[in-house]
Amino acid sequence: MRTFLLLIIFQFFEVIVGGDRKALFPSTPPTSHIYNLSKEEFIERYLSSYKPSAPNSQCQSTLSHLPQKWDWREKGYVSPVRNQKSCGGCWAFAVTETIESAAAKKFNASAPVLSVQQIIDCDPTNKGCKGGYTCTSLKWLTTSNKLVVPQSDYPLTDETEKCLSTNSSKSGVLVENFQCCQAFKNETNLLLLLYKYGPLVAGVDASTWNEYMGGIIQYHCGTSINHAVQIVGYDLTGDVPYYIIKNSWGDDWGHNGYVYLRIGGNTCGITQGINSVTDVRWLK
Ligand SMILES: *[C@@H]1O[C@H](CO)[C@@H](O)[C@H](O)[C@H]1NC(C)=O
Ligand SMILES: *[C@@H]1O[C@H](CO)[C@@H](O)[C@H](O)[C@H]1NC(C)=O
Ligand SMILES: *[C@@H]1O[C@H](CO)[C@@H](O)[C@H](O)[C@H]1NC(C)=O
Ligand SMILES: *[C@@H]1O[C@H](CO)[C@@H](O)[C@H](O)[C@H]1NC(C)=O
Repeated sequence: MRTFLLLIIFQFFEVIVGGDRKALFPSTPPTSHIYNLSKEEFIERYLSSYKPSAPNSQCQSTLSHLPQKWDWREKGYVSPVRNQKSCGGCWAFAVTETIESAAAKKFNASAPVLSVQQIIDCDPTNKGCKGGYTCTSLKWLTTSNKLVVPQSDYPLTDETEKCLSTNSSKSGVLVENFQCCQAFKNETNLLLLLYKYGPLVAGVDASTWNEYMGGIIQYHCGTSINHAVQIVGYDLTGDVPYYIIKNSWGDDWGHNGYVYLRIGGNTCGITQGINSVTDVRWLK
């Protein structure tokens, strides 16, 4: 309770300093049942299901100019927030979301809603709801030429099930290329990657996120990666610059399902496990 109050006070303070309270706090407090879990229950159900993998790329953006703020949601390149419930498949959610965004960006269309469940059930390199690696999943999708089908063809159950055949599916997205990055020491380079390639997969330490009610997290966050999310934008205009992060704990958690993390200082380990999807084929 003590840390909870402290976090709120700090966040309130930060946002007052940042000067934009309205934009950074939900208009009504979020109501997710996550806020009612004990720390042990929270960790057991929501964390420790993700491990970052070895990098395969330097992940340098060829761009050098950055706008002061950018939000890929405004282009329609980000799908609605999902809810992984007690399935430890955060890795599959973050991978699927980033494939959706890459397809949307390539064709300047609204993000397709693809099947997370297919990846949970079918990726032989990972353990479904028991956890996984985003990088091995992207590698599997690329090398097996596996079509990620629409969610409507392979619905989300939030449990590990038998892999269903999608051989007859004609629509979906193929991952052609991806990058798994080394930890970014200079966060400007991370922003440049986000601006060039669109939303990114990121590993984070979410151990305090059961207390997050809004505002920009900048303190009380470790760097032992135990969760995977998607970075969809950033804002450098205020006193506290921040990343806009999409989570998969439902839209009644955080800021309509999103959380803001301070840019600089590797907040919550955000720089340590970045993947981008750099090319896709979208069969419609
Ligand atoms: C959380 O706990 C409070 C107080 O016990 C209760 O009023 C509320 O309904 C609970 N919320 C959820 C989502 O379980
Ligand atoms: C993308 O689509 C939007 C809405 O249809 C349009 O306004 C915009 O100009 C398009 N952007 C590009 C780069 O084609
Ligand atoms: C689907 O395709 C895979 C790989 O090409 C093949 O091994 C499998 O037998 C096919 N399944 C069905 C039901 O056709
Ligand atoms: C971080 O990277 C940016 C862009 O590559 C560069 O302009 C800046 O000088 C770097 N900052 C530091 C502290 O190295």
